[in-house]
Parts: sequence; C-alpha cells; structure tokens
Amino acid sequence: MISKDIEQKLITLAKDAQEKAYVPYSKFAVGAAILTETGDYFTGCNVENISYGLTNCGERTAIFKMIAEKGPQEKIKVIAVTTKADIPCTPCGACRQVIQEFSTPETLIICKGPEGYIILSMEQLLPGAFTEFVALDQTGSSTRIQKGM
Ligand code: THU
Repeated sequence: MISKDIEQKLITLAKDAQEKAYVPYSKFAVGAAILTETGDYFTGCNVENISYGLTNCGERTAIFKMIAEKGPQEKIKVIAVTTKADIPCTPCGACRQVIQEFSTPETLIICKGPEGYIILSMEQLLPGAFTEFVALDQTGSSTRIQKGM
C-alpha cells in the first residue's frame, strides 16, 4: 500500500520528467518516477533514436538512472508512468521485464488505466515472469541462475 500523497508525488514527478522527453518521431512523451526501497526518487523520460530500435523508454531511463546512482542492490518500491497525451498507457513488454529485474514481491506500478490511474502489483503486470534458468556447461553440469545472483 502507498499513501495518496506518495502516489500524487510520483505522478507529478513523472509528469515533470515527460516534459524532457526526446520524441521527434512518435511525439509520444512518456515520464516515469521511482520511489526506491531506500527512500530516494529517480525520474526518466523516453529518448528516441532515428534508428527507432535504439529508443529507450521512460521507465528504463529512470531504472538505469537509479542503478547508476545507487548501485546494484537498489530496488523499486513504486514506479509511476505518465504520458503527455494523458491516455491509458501501461509499461511495454521490455520495460515490464526490466522493472521485474529490480522489483520485490511488494513493488507497485502506477499507470493510467481506462478510468484514471491504476495501481498494479508486479504479478499483475508480468505474471509468470522469467526470473531463473539453468545454465549447462561443457561438462554437462548445470547451475541454477536466479534473478540478481
Ligand atoms: N514508450 C515508453 O517510453 N514507455 C512505454 O512503456 C511504452 C512506449 C515510448 C517509446 C517511444 O518513444 C514512444 O513511447 C512510442 O512508442
């Protein structure tokens, strides 16, 4: 659970960040704001590229800023996503996987639904997420690799 104050603060921070978006191709400005587990705030916007595929979404910009500034142990407590168009918009598939990488079971995602902002759990955003695999070496022995190892 998060307070209405925190929810509103994150939406306001994300809206400020979306003003900085570099979106000459889509014109679809996205902002994101994170409250970390340790109480810090980070924001991001989408940064497009003429090659299109190298575009970085607002959510991932904020997450990469968080890790670059705070280090690899930091986790997302809440992330809010806004769009200048002010239309329903949930994080894209790539961002869902990156949010998952730095989430805890309690992480919340705020985004615009059909009738205003909605708050989703990580399980709602990306059910059955890819969080572990088994690596085989040349001798045939296997190692279980888990998220964050
Ligand atoms: N975009 C985001 O920033 N986040 C999302 O979760 C969805 C898509 C951006 C990428 C691109 O710059 C523009 O929105 C249109 O797809």
